[in-house]
Amino acid sequence: MAEFLPGLAGVPAARSKVSYLDGTKGLLEYRGIHIETLAEKSCFIETAYLLLFGKLPTASQLEKFDQDLRFHRRIKYRITDLIKCLPESGHPMDALQAAVAALGMFYPDKDVQDEETRYISSVRLLAKLPTIVAAYARLRRGDDNVQPRDDLSHTENFLYMLTEKVPDKVMAEIFDTCLILHAEHTMNASTFSGLVTASTLSNPYAVVSSAVGTLMGPLHGGANEKVLRMLEEIGTVDKVRPHIEAKVAANERIMGLGHRVYKVKDPRAIILQRLAKRLFAHLGTSPLYEVAVEVERVGEEFLAKKKVYANVDFYSGILYQKMGIETDFFTPIFAMSRVSGWLAHWIEQVKDNHIFRPTAIYEGDHGVGYLPIEDRKA
Ligand code: COA
Repeated sequence: MAEFLPGLAGVPAARSKVSYLDGTKGLLEYRGIHIETLAEKSCFIETAYLLLFGKLPTASQLEKFDQDLRFHRRIKYRITDLIKCLPESGHPMDALQAAVAALGMFYPDKDVQDEETRYISSVRLLAKLPTIVAAYARLRRGDDNVQPRDDLSHTENFLYMLTEKVPDKVMAEIFDTCLILHAEHTMNASTFSGLVTASTLSNPYAVVSSAVGTLMGPLHGGANEKVLRMLEEIGTVDKVRPHIEAKVAANERIMGLGHRVYKVKDPRAIILQRLAKRLFAHLGTSPLYEVAVEVERVGEEFLAKKKVYANVDFYSGILYQKMGIETDFFTPIFAMSRVSGWLAHWIEQVKDNHIFRPTAIYEGDHGVGYLPIEDRKA
């Protein structure tokens, strides 16, 4: 009998050329290109193209991809109506999952083996997720949603739909780099969940909606919200040490530190910290930044021996907060970016498909008789 590994830890679930990471070296590559290089030189839609189609686009390929994305930003008024009917107390990730699943009913071109279908579905999902996220942010407050503007870039347009203001260049660039950093991360839980759905040849909207449902859990996409709450609870730099000492003494986890794979500082956290400094130099500092730096420093004193360092969620929350984004929208923004990675894995999966059908080690009874209901004890 095969060995049971809880959580399939370390079990390869696919052969993939999408991304690679080495947790001891702090290396992350998308299609072989170092994340540092992409963060410095690329933009989100170019990176999404790279992930989806395997190579950096030529100028004309990028131009066409960009135009296609701009053209498909709008959502049907029925999707807007659906979002309007959702409770305002719900989590935006639930709203996103429902709206993405509903998209599949409007686009019946579901032959996932057809290359053109895969292209257009990928474009629709990349283009429409930001519109859905921004629409829910406004509609839940009773405000009208803001229609997308074709003259703005992917990132500028999202921030515009969210706030009704065109962001300045620095803010748009920083946000765009955040999207690059969250776009892909090998075989994580949401990617795997999307692949299981993909392997039944379900439509790509069902694939992405499965992945959104998986990303929303607190063990996956929800940690950045928790980091921000922790920093707010600590409040000032002088309270950091007693807070960390108490957590360590109680053997409790400090949010935003530690990673299953990285045993050094997450390369994305290094870039995010740099982006945070740039944003605060531009907009004025955030008191929470000093607290975060101190948490990282004191945390390292206690936890470096266990190879626990800052992860991607550590600095992203304070950055988004400074941009005026509500805390429960951090994970939907993650999804708007990660959809590119999910779709890249979806394309790989359907090109060489095997339906996922693992097994379970049965530990129940056999040959149990049927007891009539009147004879069953409470
Ligand atoms: N704070 C304090 N101690 C931590 C820690 C943290 N954030 N993360 C790990 N440790 C400690 C563990 O208590 C354990 O100590 P022990 O050996 O004395 O028992 C040791 O480091 C190894 O931890 P382990 O649970 O084996 O690491 P893991 O790889 O299973 O866990 C995480 C990875 C991400 C689940 C874990 O680091 C964590 O819970 N982090 C906080 C939540 C978070 O930021 N999640 C987002 C991840 S991107």
